[in-house]
Amino acid sequence: MQNQQSKSLFEPFRMGDIELQNRIVMAPMTRSRAEHKAHLPTAIMQTYYGQRAGAGLIISEGVIISGMANGYINVPGIYSEEQVAAWKKITQKVHDHGSKIFAQIWHVGRISHPDLLGGRLPLAPSAINPDFYAYTFEGQKDTVTPKEMTVQEIKVTVADFKKAAINAINAGFDGVEVHGANTYLIHQFIAASANQRADEYGGSAENRARFLFEVLDEVTASIGSGKVGIRLSPDDNNFAGIMLDEDTRATYDYIIGRLNDYRLAYVHLTGALMTPAEGEGPYEKILTTVKKYRKVYRGNIIINKGFDKQTGEQVIRDGIADLVAYGAPFIANPDLVERFRHNLPLATPDPDTFYQGGEKGYIDYLTIQ
Ligand SMILES: Cc1cc2nc3c(=O)[nH]c(=O)nc-3n(C[C@H](O)[C@H](O)[C@H](O)COP(=O)(O)O)c2cc1C
Repeated sequence: MQNQQSKSLFEPFRMGDIELQNRIVMAPMTRSRAEHKAHLPTAIMQTYYGQRAGAGLIISEGVIISGMANGYINVPGIYSEEQVAAWKKITQKVHDHGSKIFAQIWHVGRISHPDLLGGRLPLAPSAINPDFYAYTFEGQKDTVTPKEMTVQEIKVTVADFKKAAINAINAGFDGVEVHGANTYLIHQFIAASANQRADEYGGSAENRARFLFEVLDEVTASIGSGKVGIRLSPDDNNFAGIMLDEDTRATYDYIIGRLNDYRLAYVHLTGALMTPAEGEGPYEKILTTVKKYRKVYRGNIIINKGFDKQTGEQVIRDGIADLVAYGAPFIANPDLVERFRHNLPLATPDPDTFYQGGEKGYIDYLTIQ
């Protein structure tokens, strides 16, 4: 179906039942401007997302599905009525400006700290410390050995994903992106290095993918598969305790093949979190991976990491992906689509304000026109 549509970044794209004004996606980005105690979205977040509504699709920052899903400060949630009410104002703003918005539903698993969980241990498939760090109000702290989830805790978490998806639709989101990437909980189940369970959630590829598919089954049954995307980072290796060994590679082959059974809005494949190897471009690895999975997966693919206008246009023209997601470029260029369209220069984002600074470095980047 995608082949009958115009192959330009700037042309509308029909993603299942959803009509996008172009093929440019704003990648999910945690910006830590929510109210911490109740994880409530704030008024400046309405402005921020409204400013970026030139994108065909906005994927929200990671939105926690429960208190136990949290691993950062000042991130929003989608499990309380108050949160749903606050998100409504944001989704409305985005729709008023002509774009669409999915909520990225998120559980960090072991990439957290008891300081962020009311003193409780983070949850994970196995009790293995990722030997990483978490951001707390007292600054960066070393991660701890998490608690191995009981089957009951796994079921509760699947139900939390489901509730979050229903809440997202009630809050006016056009759909949800299940966060299965970047070393967080779902990724921890997939990776053999983080999952050494002896029950039905560990061992074989099918078992390590079980949690992901239980989440997808519940979420798609609740809101419709055309409103659901999944983000995976199959290139992640040697980062936050996640290794890309042969078992894990085979698990991705299994997962991506099986995703054909769902009529999802899209599969979002993002590049590895490590810096590229010497002489390797920022997007080269994910390009190779997406080329491989393009032959396997028959639905829409979003590609991400390190793309610019020219390389983004190229992947669309070559039919390697259907949509291109841009992260950091959207931080400093709220009008990124217009800048791309008219070949205008891009502003550089300030990393010091990525996760702090209130309005500064958040809603004060200028549009050109
Ligand atoms: C400030 C910042 C916050 C991010 N937060 C998230 C997040 O909440 N969820 C997620 O899946 N990826 C997150 N990412 C990764 C981006 O979605 C994207 O994959 C990354 O920036 C690479 O794309 P780019 O090269 O176009 O910037 C974040 C990236 C940045 C720069």
